[in-house]
Amino acid sequence: MTSIAILGGTGRQGSGLARRFARTDARVIVGSRDPARARATVAGWALPAAKTIEVTDYADAAAHGDVVVLAVPFDALDPLLAELALHISTRSLVLDVTVPVAFPNGHMTMIDVVEGSASEHIRARLPAGVAMAAAFKTLPAHLLVEGAPLDCDEFVCGDTIEARAAAAALVQRLPGVRSVDIGPLSRARFVEHATALAIAINRTHKIHDARFRIVGLP
Ligand SMILES: NC(=O)c1ccc[n+]([C@@H]2O[C@H](COP(=O)([O-])OP(=O)(O)OC[C@H]3O[C@@H](n4cnc5c(N)ncnc54)[C@H](OP(=O)(O)O)[C@@H]3O)[C@@H](O)[C@H]2O)c1
Repeated sequence: MTSIAILGGTGRQGSGLARRFARTDARVIVGSRDPARARATVAGWALPAAKTIEVTDYADAAAHGDVVVLAVPFDALDPLLAELALHISTRSLVLDVTVPVAFPNGHMTMIDVVEGSASEHIRARLPAGVAMAAAFKTLPAHLLVEGAPLDCDEFVCGDTIEARAAAAALVQRLPGVRSVDIGPLSRARFVEHATALAIAINRTHKIHDARFRIVGLP
């Protein structure tokens, strides 16, 4: 059974993914800075019968995940990555869902990331032997949380073909979502800007559900 540890699993995107993966045969582990508070949060979620979600701290969650999902705000990453480097196994896949956007005074801005993208920022801080991919950056959290039909594509990029295949397999666990392989991890920068584009479309059209579907693929 695949174990999926979601760091930031109490947040909007993390909890949406945790609840979606709880509908599959995966073992789901929520990592939190405050496991007692997170346990109370998770206890309030409606889960499939006989399904449980484990809750622990970030280090313990990371140590037990075949896949370790990073679902924290971009500006919370650095201390987390320093801790993670001590606990992550080289057998694990790190899956980045972060987007470097901020909303000062309600206005959306991209945070300037020296490495080119949040994913490359993370890559530069992970042990070399740990595989990494990015996905779930353009899926709106509220659709995940509400269990609404997703009906869209999700971009996957990563270090290697194997890392992308593992990430694609996770994406395909969500009914209605097609994985679109976009190649190396450096292309995460395009995806992160695409997320900003989706937010801009939402704001312009006063909607909440903008996401992507690519035409022309075989
Ligand atoms: N919301 C979306 O629609 C969406 C879509 C795509 C991607 N994303 C990305 O997913 C990531 C999480 O976004 P979100 O909307 O889920 O955020 P959120 O609701 O604020 O949740 C983030 C979680 O991160 C944890 N965390 C760790 N360090 C933190 C810190 N210093 N400050 C605040 N929270 C901290 C918190 O969990 P504990 O307190 O339990 O540790 C919190 O529940 C972001 O990078 C975002 O860009 C979001």
